[in-house]
Amino acid sequence: MNPSPESSFFELGPDCEIGPNVLLGYRYPGCRAPTRIGARARIHSGSVIYADTVIGDRFTCGHNVTIRAECEIGDRVVILHGSTLEGRLKIGKGVKIMAHVYIPSSTTIGSMVFIGPGVNFLNALLPMRVPVVGGATIGNHVMIGGGVTIGPGVKIGDNVFIGAGANVVRDIPANSLAYGNPARAQPLPEKFGTMNDPKQIFNGLDLWDRRPADETWRDEDFPGRDAWLASQR
Ligand SMILES: CC(C)(COP(=O)(O)OP(=O)(O)OC[C@H]1O[C@@H](n2cnc3c(N)ncnc32)[C@H](O)[C@@H]1OP(=O)(O)O)[C@@H](O)C(=O)NCCC(=O)NCCS
Repeated sequence: MNPSPESSFFELGPDCEIGPNVLLGYRYPGCRAPTRIGARARIHSGSVIYADTVIGDRFTCGHNVTIRAECEIGDRVVILHGSTLEGRLKIGKGVKIMAHVYIPSSTTIGSMVFIGPGVNFLNALLPMRVPVVGGATIGNHVMIGGGVTIGPGVKIGDNVFIGAGANVVRDIPANSLAYGNPARAQPLPEKFGTMNDPKQIFNGLDLWDRRPADETWRDEDFPGRDAWLASQR
């Protein structure tokens, strides 16, 4: 482990692998608590995580990821290179965020969610005019395709599939498929299934990591676990 010489304002669980030039516990004016990260984190070079952010176990973080203060991030979250989390936001368990995703403050993301590459979340309807900040709220087992824009204050229900490139400006009810600009919702066709596959969500699927697949996710509790187990019989 490279002990992040620029700062010691962090607490790491056991068995973490921290790459070079990673800055944990970045101090900002008024910061209070160290960055806390659970067991078995893997954080690649160039990433910066601010003080007052708490992250669960088995966190996987690509290169040059910025996570600012007061984020609450659950277990088994993957965030790939170049993504930015602006702070003061919540992310559940088993969330997979691909490269170059932007998530502003006051966004809430459920569990077992996939966020495709280049997705932008927004949190201000009238920026520079009316100072109201309201981020999006995303349910569980949501799949957000590549290049999607999710508008300020938009609520997306559980088990929703958002097609690539959609501009989501209105709420999307649970069990829907939505795509286009503006995105229009329709009942989720049967071929889309009832949830994101826990095996794909929980496992890193990193081309460059040749270690054997981690099967410990099978012991995890997660939303929809009972239904998923029943579907496997
Ligand atoms: C939404 C999606 C699942 C639809 O796939 P599909 O059911 O096979 O749909 P089809 O290709 O049969 O297209 C049906 C119609 O919807 C349109 N359409 C499909 N996807 C669309 C999208 N993302 N945006 C706008 N229109 C779309 C098609 O042009 C077609 O219109 P037409 O009937 O007038 O020709 C797919 O396009 C998609 O976006 N998948 C997600 C890919 C992704 O982002 N992966 C993330 C990480 S790699």
